[in-house]
Amino acid sequence: INQGNGVKGLSELGLKALPKQYIQPLEERMCMTSIVPQGSIPIIDMSNWEDPNVAKSICDAASEWGFFQIVNHDVPVEVLENVKDATYNFFRLPAEVKNKYSKEHSSSNNVRFGTSFTPQAEKALEWKDYLSLFYVSEEEASALWPSVCRQQVLDYMKKSEVVIKQLLQVLMKGLNVNEIDAAKESLLMGSMRTNLNYYPKCPNPELTVGVGRHSDVSTLTILLQDEIGGLFVRGNKGDDWIHVPPIKGSLVINVGDALQIMSNGRYRSVEHRVVANGSKNRISVPIFVNPRPADMIGPLPELVANGEKPIYKQVLYSDYVKHFFRKAHDGKKTVEFAE
Ligand code: SIN
Ligand code: FE2
Repeated sequence: INQGNGVKGLSELGLKALPKQYIQPLEERMCMTSIVPQGSIPIIDMSNWEDPNVAKSICDAASEWGFFQIVNHDVPVEVLENVKDATYNFFRLPAEVKNKYSKEHSSSNNVRFGTSFTPQAEKALEWKDYLSLFYVSEEEASALWPSVCRQQVLDYMKKSEVVIKQLLQVLMKGLNVNEIDAAKESLLMGSMRTNLNYYPKCPNPELTVGVGRHSDVSTLTILLQDEIGGLFVRGNKGDDWIHVPPIKGSLVINVGDALQIMSNGRYRSVEHRVVANGSKNRISVPIFVNPRPADMIGPLPELVANGEKPIYKQVLYSDYVKHFFRKAHDGKKTVEFAE
């Protein structure tokens, strides 16, 4: 019924009721009134990122919350605005153009347009369309990425590298890993993927989700969200869900499973989810900073050398990612693969 135009196409048909494939089981829906949220995600000013107090607040946020927002980072505001415009421009393309990038038609696994998370494995679908772009080289991007968003995504990734390196340097220092040599840099940030996410307004938003509960499989995720809101993070004390309020010009940073594993549990990847919205369209643009697929990941040798007991085993990163995509979102279960 959606003629290959994803949930955006469904939304634009003006349906009165949510199609049943998108109806989530009760336990996956977000009950907005259930538990009073305790606290809020830290907001960190990056202008003095090398200051020991700022560095400490970054490391504390990564171990206590797994999530924080950064302001006064060096990614220019035009770059952020341009990638948001480019996201709208991609999703505005006719269905037949977007479908050139679908699983069935895409000429490469590195470019993928789709709906939901992993439809073939899900009992209930998620109310989200996305374009996922795995970066290999500028040349490959020129050949494969849609031209409406290519340069804007490349600029966003390039400009984000500075703050990514600052954050990783601080986080490593917090583990007493004082030098990031080329091999370690490659392990921490050897590959990157950017997703353009589109969550169209939804009939019966309370019956479905934008994204179900999960933690990311990345080292770090850098997320640009628009002004709509709807991202919730598992609180650090219990069963509450904490909203991540949109702040103009900020970026949301979260620890992924790969960094939890490499830090031997010191830094925590934390469950999060996105609600569907009954009146507004929302977009977000995460950059997933990852190890390379062929890397083995495990607790860093520097930590284990200090006599610390490794709580995770070494796993091939591509196997880890495959394990994540093999099943529907299910909270923090993926990390058990490395236990
Ligand atoms: C995600 O975590 O998958 C998406 C986050 C967002 O859209 O805010
Ligand atoms: Fe996520």
